[in-house]
Amino acid sequence: MCGIIGYVGNKEIIPILLEGLHSLEYRGYDSSGIAIHEGNSLNVVKAAGKLNCLEEILKNNGTKNGKNGHVNCGVGHTRWATHGEASDINAHPHFDRDEKIAVVHNGIIRNYQEVRENLLKAGVHFVSETDTEVIVQLISYNFKNSKSLLHAICTSVNELDGSFALGILFKQEPDKIYAVRKESPIIIGMGENENYLASDSATLSLFVNKIIRLGDNEIAEITKDKVKLYSFKGEEIKKSPQTVTKSNDFLDKKGFKHHLIKEISEQADVISNLLSNHLSATSKDKSARVKLDYINLNPDLLKNIDRILILACGTAYHAGLIGKFVLENLTGIPTEVQFASEFLNTKSLLTKKSLVIGISQSGETADTLSAVKKAKDTGTTFVAITNNPHSELANLAKDHLLISKAGIEVSVAATKTFTAQITMLYLLAIYIAETIGSKKEKSLDLLKQELRLLPQLIDQTILRAEQYQEQVLKYADKPDFVFIGRGINYPIALEAALKLKELSYIHASGYASGEMKHGPIAVLDPKVPVVSIVVPGETYDRVLQNSMEAKSRHAPMIAVAVDGDKKADSIFDTVLHIPPVIEIASPFLTVIPLQFLAYYIAEHLERDIDQPRNLAKSVTVE
Ligand code: AGP
Repeated sequence: MCGIIGYVGNKEIIPILLEGLHSLEYRGYDSSGIAIHEGNSLNVVKAAGKLNCLEEILKNNGTKNGKNGHVNCGVGHTRWATHGEASDINAHPHFDRDEKIAVVHNGIIRNYQEVRENLLKAGVHFVSETDTEVIVQLISYNFKNSKSLLHAICTSVNELDGSFALGILFKQEPDKIYAVRKESPIIIGMGENENYLASDSATLSLFVNKIIRLGDNEIAEITKDKVKLYSFKGEEIKKSPQTVTKSNDFLDKKGFKHHLIKEISEQADVISNLLSNHLSATSKDKSARVKLDYINLNPDLLKNIDRILILACGTAYHAGLIGKFVLENLTGIPTEVQFASEFLNTKSLLTKKSLVIGISQSGETADTLSAVKKAKDTGTTFVAITNNPHSELANLAKDHLLISKAGIEVSVAATKTFTAQITMLYLLAIYIAETIGSKKEKSLDLLKQELRLLPQLIDQTILRAEQYQEQVLKYADKPDFVFIGRGINYPIALEAALKLKELSYIHASGYASGEMKHGPIAVLDPKVPVVSIVVPGETYDRVLQNSMEAKSRHAPMIAVAVDGDKKADSIFDTVLHIPPVIEIASPFLTVIPLQFLAYYIAEHLERDIDQPRNLAKSVTVE
């Protein structure tokens, strides 16, 4: 979704704003723009399309970089269209009528029509279709009766309903950026005689190693050597900075063609690191329980938990479905998974004996944050799993935080963060089982032993990439795909369908294989490949049987099956082989050929792999 960058300091400003905008590209966008103080005025340059369109205009129109050694101040923005198409006019920054105030915005103004109508009645003229323009026009309108711009901002944000992160420049204060946060994330980066503003900590880590997260309903006044924080009432607030590791190589593809394929290939290392952080190297040491550093769950509290609810969206929701399977299997505690956006209905079912797990790669997904906040209001125990320790979700979890440590995921489609999330869910399930004694030590030891083998097995699977490529490309012209799986691999069927849709724009559905005959089978014909996940174990025979039903309808048949599975080899047209693995650990392997399937088909169709159309990495509006 939209990205914000801001800079105030003595360096040339445009290269910094552009570097920041490039690092925010992964969030998804369709236009961009900057506003900087130049001479005695505010200069706004913006363009529909990718950043090269903005760069071209900046090159041709003589916009100055700002002199080295002088205080330079400005903001930049990547826009993911919500209100109004992606056009030059709708791109941010937006000006007020007098071109005295410029605003960039991430989020949504829910009461924008009402505010707009009131302003229209007061004679204000609008030029764009965006909800953002009402913010800048409102601040400008309120400024007439205010003692300062800060005062006008306070008055205005209290009149706005919605989620918004703002960067604001004011012509009369050429060395200052105002930042505002209500729900949508915005972070301040603190350097030596320079300060920054950005939508995420990864972007700030390019420049600085100290950050301050703006909290909900807070405003910052940022100059090159000072950051002052205020509440929406205008009262000053004090906060200490947090440290982040400076990192300027997360945008480096390290020789891979796309971030996505790089990230798929990193999965063995990610899981190996997580396991070595939380699991001892062998089971010989009997005291070798799972260690979860930032989890502070009291054993008596865990013993009383009678229900687990997992809240998440998209790929994180699929990870949650696998988590349900493992948590129920190991702890015996009934576990439910809900789309965070559908949480409204079950709030009343939560009690102090419930455990809620919120999962979000970004930790900033608005639907997940909103559901988690409602759940927390019931007094339930809350655990977060996120890849972003500086996110709002991490902040909400406080004592019960699991960081999935997959490294920054730049590609919009989640791959390595999915397998990292499921790793954390397995570890959490073992941790709870060990604490409440719900499973025999011996069977937990066996599972831990299987988990320890995973990095090697994942590596072996990833090494088969070229083989998978050759196998899947013959299906690249098919307009529809159906993925089926059962039990712990049903969520993998859902995830595989999501990956194919996101990356290739081919329609795909995932089903529990037993459900095929209850309706979806009607869509099958020789143009619709069926991809079955058939792993030895409890579900094997039934998935094979359901696959046979599809074969009888002349659907092209693809399987993910283990090496040496002769039955699968004889039934399916194409078998994407994985190394042998036990069923409960199989999702870590079955997902990999399907990530490759989505990647290679999308690459063949020349799709925008790392930034698929219409998608945003971090979905910060509900
Ligand atoms: C994954 O490929 C998707 N882009 C999307 O479904 C994503 O998983 C979802 O928006 C949730 O994001 P989060 O994990 O950052 O909360």
